[in-house]
Amino acid sequence: MQDFRQLFKRNEMWWWSVALLLWLSGAAGELRPLEKSYRIMMLSTLPARSHMNVFAALAEALADRGHQVVMVTSIPSNIDHPNIKEVDTGLARLTANITNSFETRNCILHYFNTLLAMMTRMARAFHREPSVKELYRTRREYDIAIVDIFFNQMTYPLVYELPFVFVSTGGVDSQQSAQMGNVLSPSYVNTLSRDFPRPMTLFHRVLNAGWHFLRAYGRQYYFLPRIQEIISEFHPNLPPLEEIERNHSLFLTNSHFSLDLALPLLPSQVEIAGIHCRPPQPLPKELSSWVSAAGEAGVVYFSLGSLARWDNLPYRYRDIFVQAFALLEQRIIWKCEGDIPGVSDNVLLQKWTPQQDLLGNPKVKVFISHCGRLSMQESVYHTTPILCLPIAADQLNNAQIIETKGVGLSLVWEELTVDVVVRTIMELAGNTKCQDAARKVKFVWQDQLQGPAERSVYWVEYIARHGGAPTLRSQAFHLSWVEFLLLDVLALLLVTLAVILFLLRRLLRALKHRWWWVSAAQKVKGE
Ligand SMILES: *[C@@H]1O[C@H](CO)[C@@H](O)[C@H](O)[C@H]1NC(C)=O
Ligand SMILES: *[C@@H]1O[C@H](CO)[C@@H](O)[C@H](O)[C@H]1NC(C)=O
Repeated sequence: MQDFRQLFKRNEMWWWSVALLLWLSGAAGELRPLEKSYRIMMLSTLPARSHMNVFAALAEALADRGHQVVMVTSIPSNIDHPNIKEVDTGLARLTANITNSFETRNCILHYFNTLLAMMTRMARAFHREPSVKELYRTRREYDIAIVDIFFNQMTYPLVYELPFVFVSTGGVDSQQSAQMGNVLSPSYVNTLSRDFPRPMTLFHRVLNAGWHFLRAYGRQYYFLPRIQEIISEFHPNLPPLEEIERNHSLFLTNSHFSLDLALPLLPSQVEIAGIHCRPPQPLPKELSSWVSAAGEAGVVYFSLGSLARWDNLPYRYRDIFVQAFALLEQRIIWKCEGDIPGVSDNVLLQKWTPQQDLLGNPKVKVFISHCGRLSMQESVYHTTPILCLPIAADQLNNAQIIETKGVGLSLVWEELTVDVVVRTIMELAGNTKCQDAARKVKFVWQDQLQGPAERSVYWVEYIARHGGAPTLRSQAFHLSWVEFLLLDVLALLLVTLAVILFLLRRLLRALKHRWWWVSAAQKVKGE
């Protein structure tokens, strides 16, 4: 080490290295000049605001770069950008009050069946839509497509014969990863919607492996065939959905190892966590004056996201919050689409809230959340302590991460009481521990050569430039599960071993036999 330093000093190389490094770190984050403006089709049909937030951020990054984006969506976000055109699928009307997350959260089968019924109805309506038919007809005019991977198989016909990219707004899911040819071991990767302890005990590994298997099985033999049936009605001559899906080139995932687990990912699995995060902007006038009037105590912001509708929240929980909020010295902003009787004067009900502007406001001390992936990331990004109340799906996993990293606390719905809610909020608002932890996590998370938007743009252009990227594809794709798990090799080894043992035994027997004869003969002689 000392020698190296002397060498550097002597040759003044050290200073040159520093200069070079500085130049590189400044330059590495920049994309090269735009070669070509690509036509990009983006497809996301699930009417979920969280999916849309990620999609809109990605669309804007691509449009800012100079590409032409057509975004097919069920909840148009009315982006005002000359390079973005939104196409409304009109599917939101089919899903308005179908899933009650509080009803389905404890019964996975009920949840699955509700979802399947909704999906089949959506798939049919989707392909009847004139704008979708037109897109299908003109699909070859696009250079590349970007497809939401969650329950979006109905859109696959539109990307047939196109290079395309998957986006997972929910981060790396083991089942999706397996579809991409990267099987993540259930020995340490939680299946979606389970918050098994880390590291898992033998019992939890059995459960986790079971879940991995069940989900793959359910998708393959129960879910896909139903959707396929409907797609085949409209497009009888297309290859099976599964085959189209296998032709994907890239997988953008809303995760980052600093916020999740460090996972062995393929070069085609690119992490873009936080693409939707942005610095806070000033609040609208009314909200701003209400927040500023909160004084030293500050504000608590309560939102269960966009999927859990306010009228699904069971009364017993709703009343707990109403009573708890009345006991707090803080002001509360409660995001909720309707009216709630009996709320105290320190509570402001809001149909819509500029969430990131609130979280980034120094007056907002605590964020009570269902802990969806985006909310979790925003709480870290804006370093606002979070109180997690996970309802279903990946929220349990997210809440576990939040607690492990010390960014917030997590409560269980069934164990809620007024006292617990008040105490937890006071604990979060009363010290800076969580905020310090969030700052630390954010520091590691943001320490990257490129931001997530830039990285996405680079990779999407990469795929468009090369007309797809089979070189990124895992060779595991071509293996059966018997080959993948080396079961055939294991079988061969076992058979070889068995043959050797069998032969050895024969040999020993023969020797023993011989020895017996010899010794018997000697005995006879001796007599
Ligand atoms: C939603 O609920 C309303 C009122 O309960 C009902 O009239 C409507 O048909 C429901 N919509 C769907 C798609 O189920
Ligand atoms: C697969 O993708 C390539 C481009 O990446 C495209 O040329 C080809 O037609 C696609 N095949 C199918 C079956 O979609």
